[in-house]
Amino acid sequence: MSDVTQKNKKFDLIIWGSTGYTGKLVCEYIFKNYKDTNLKWALGGRNELKIKRLISSLELNSIPYLIADCNNKNSLLEMTKMTRTICSTVGPYDKYGTLLVEACIENKTNYCDITGETHWIREIIDKYHAKAIKNNVKIVHACGFDSIPSDIGVFYAQNKMKENTGKYASKISMRVISIKGGVSGGTIYSFLNIIEQSRKNKSIRKTLNNPHGLSPNEDLFETEEKDLNRIVFDSTCKKWIGPFVMASINTRIVRRSNYLMDFKYGRVFIYNEGLIVGKSIFSKFFGYFRLIPVYLIGKIKNILFKSLVKFVLPKPGQGPTGNSRKSGYFKFRFYVFDNKLKAIVSVNGVGCPGYGSTSKMLAESAICLAIDKLPNKSGILTPSTGLGAPLLSRLRRNADLNFEFKQV
Ligand SMILES: NC(=O)c1ccc[n+]([C@@H]2O[C@H](COP(=O)([O-])OP(=O)(O)OC[C@H]3O[C@@H](n4cnc5c(N)ncnc54)[C@H](OP(=O)(O)O)[C@@H]3O)[C@@H](O)[C@H]2O)c1
Repeated sequence: MSDVTQKNKKFDLIIWGSTGYTGKLVCEYIFKNYKDTNLKWALGGRNELKIKRLISSLELNSIPYLIADCNNKNSLLEMTKMTRTICSTVGPYDKYGTLLVEACIENKTNYCDITGETHWIREIIDKYHAKAIKNNVKIVHACGFDSIPSDIGVFYAQNKMKENTGKYASKISMRVISIKGGVSGGTIYSFLNIIEQSRKNKSIRKTLNNPHGLSPNEDLFETEEKDLNRIVFDSTCKKWIGPFVMASINTRIVRRSNYLMDFKYGRVFIYNEGLIVGKSIFSKFFGYFRLIPVYLIGKIKNILFKSLVKFVLPKPGQGPTGNSRKSGYFKFRFYVFDNKLKAIVSVNGVGCPGYGSTSKMLAESAICLAIDKLPNKSGILTPSTGLGAPLLSRLRRNADLNFEFKQV
């Protein structure tokens, strides 16, 4: 194999999956915001014709491209040896992602993605965590809407708590105040794939249901960490709350961060998430109506129904329109406790969470991974443990994310 030291790598960053719906947005963002910098970046994909079309539609003529295929390890090794960092938007990741992570670790190339597939992250941890540490490589999963606002939100809240009170919080409850956005074909395909895999495989089901599925500390199981599966009255925000669809990945990522930092927030640190559905008793019933589509998709077994869902919803490569990407937003509130409520943290984002905002979060994570001075940590990491404070400041400065801390 060729020399794999960082110095003789041609690129700082390759965007893998540049022809996909999210990949294009990431390329557009980087080109617009970093074209007058020294960043050496390139496009990566499997289809040369599609890449050429992308180059001409976004006028990316100055940007080089590389061709590889996620099922061909040699092609991935050739690509990863050329770059210090890979940013991947090729999913479902459990179908298309494993060989790329393996190639990155072999070629000492840092990696980030936007997977929300907990079972696949578990597989990557089991297969590669030790090897990534040995090769001093950072593999940073979940650098999109799941799970940056949650993981960096907790990181920010805990650092502010320590700064202001001298102690870390023992419990944080995140509540989704409001959210507006759309969904892409690639996300639907990945979501249906998780349901199918968990139906077929008992151990995947077990990982998905385990609140500590991404960190080996099952003994720390606390009742408050069970995923919410109904509408309940939340005495903290004094409103009815229900399940937040991303909680099953976000909470695992936050708990893994705590584990990777040797339980800096304490071995009994509690983190949970919920979606506010309203104040009155009527909102409780309305809340159950909002859960129906998620419940129904989870029950899809019939092939005909599955094809119908695929027919009606966006296909791979498709997603929300430009206007809906711009008009989207999210507002999260973190209730921060140390015995009693001590602070409230707000994390707000501008742009459709899954795409308008995610493409900015992912692009900034990738650039952060490629060129910033980072925490001295390697292995299968989370945004806060792999990218930490440098990412927080990039998100505030460039990605329209707002973080605010108020002591109560
Ligand atoms: N965490 C978050 O917040 C978040 C937000 C958005 C999306 N996502 C995830 O991101 C992923 C992508 O979503 P998307 O809507 O952008 O998907 P998409 O539009 O379908 O794009 C998928 C990309 O993968 C490429 N690809 C597929 N098979 C490949 C192969 N064998 N070798 C190389 N490349 C291959 C496609 O290439 P071609 O163009 O050549 O077909 C395309 O570039 C999904 O897993 C989704 O769940 C996560």
